Amino acid sequence: MNILLLGSGGREHALAWKLSQSKHLTRLFIAPGNAGTGQLGTNLPVPATDFMGIRAAVLQHNIGMVVVGPEDPLVHGIHDFFLSDPILQKIPVIGPARQAAMLEGSKDFAKRFMVRHGIPTARYRTFTAETLSEGIDFLSTLSPPYVLKADGLAAGKGVVICNDYAEAARELHTMLKDRKFGDASASVVIEEFLKGIELSVFVLTDGNSYALLPEAKDYKKAGTGDTGPNTGGMGSVSPVTFASYDFMEKVEQRIIQPTIRGLKQEEIDYRGFIFFGLINVAGDPFVIEYNCRLGDPETEAVLPRLKSDLIELFQATAAGTLGQFTVETDPRCCASVMLVSKGYPGSYEKGKKITGLRSISESIVFHAGTACDPEGNVITSGGRVLAVTSMGTTLREALERSYQNAAMIAFDGKNLREDIGFDLE
Ligand code: AMP
Ligand code: GLY
Repeated sequence: MNILLLGSGGREHALAWKLSQSKHLTRLFIAPGNAGTGQLGTNLPVPATDFMGIRAAVLQHNIGMVVVGPEDPLVHGIHDFFLSDPILQKIPVIGPARQAAMLEGSKDFAKRFMVRHGIPTARYRTFTAETLSEGIDFLSTLSPPYVLKADGLAAGKGVVICNDYAEAARELHTMLKDRKFGDASASVVIEEFLKGIELSVFVLTDGNSYALLPEAKDYKKAGTGDTGPNTGGMGSVSPVTFASYDFMEKVEQRIIQPTIRGLKQEEIDYRGFIFFGLINVAGDPFVIEYNCRLGDPETEAVLPRLKSDLIELFQATAAGTLGQFTVETDPRCCASVMLVSKGYPGSYEKGKKITGLRSISESIVFHAGTACDPEGNVITSGGRVLAVTSMGTTLREALERSYQNAAMIAFDGKNLREDIGFDLE
């Protein structure tokens, strides 16, 4: 089968790497891809949100399945676009339809869904510009820190945590009245702050049953010692030591199963990944957020631990037979360390030549923000550049391998966090 994979980051390189190990793959196309995906398949110069461009590519390359990496095309309805087109409607799309993608696309939708189905999450209320003063009153009923979330997609930047009341009230005003995050902050969810340690749990669902994938933890702060601004993620590890059998039983019973049941009860057709952003509060899991896709950089530590054939998993998702599937995982540990451009997550330069990639043999290097220059050199083209990923019998061994290999790669302005996994050993 020919597969078209949408997206261009480290997550998509990891997906491409896993897909290309399947005996069911004939040709892999990636739109738009990066220098790493280009080594595994054919990159097409089509943005992941250009639905007509994707349609043309599907027809031209006889695509039998579309796998969606990022949230944008899903929230904008790529799955619905396929279903409404007489020629495309038989081609499976791995990723939920627009209404189901609202679990990520609207924080208020997600919160209301959780309340309807008794899924543990922080206490909250939603406000608009018209109800700003009620929002300010609500803040006074909470104790600091205050958590303010733009309702819509804000490129991962829509959550603001304030330590004092006056700052939170000002921030609420800026989000609602000045539209700090554009239309995404036309509504703002204010919620109780939960104290605990976070982890990311992933399932693939066909709308009836689900396959649980290995869990992971990502490291969001830019600086070593969990300092500095939030980023898309500076590294990831899997498994997560505190995700014990008992804890994961609670996650399945209190969170995953009610979510799948709730979607079914509400007749929301969901075929794709659900990413549960969870927090462990004194041994009990709570949902911080849902995402309708895999995490990045979590995918880079999760997929190397997946032994099952990914295309077979996707075929079962499309056919509604996931319930009969047993997911096989590798018990070893995986650690992924992100190499980023100087300045990230603020402004940074692109186009820096990357050297040392060919000397890496013990790690897998997933490309995140890379491109090829006209001479065929791999150059930087994003803030997050490469995810250096290794397996080990212990987390320490996996981390050491990744750090040793990360040191062999060079580009002007290369930065990394020195302490990925520090809290889990
Ligand atoms: P999100 O964009 O929803 O992933 O939120 C970004 C980060 O804000 C999360 O990864 C958490 O670290 C933090 N966060 C969000 N909601 C809460 C909450 N209710 N309590 C504590 N931290 C939170
Ligand atoms: N690493 C978090 C995310 O992908 O949203």
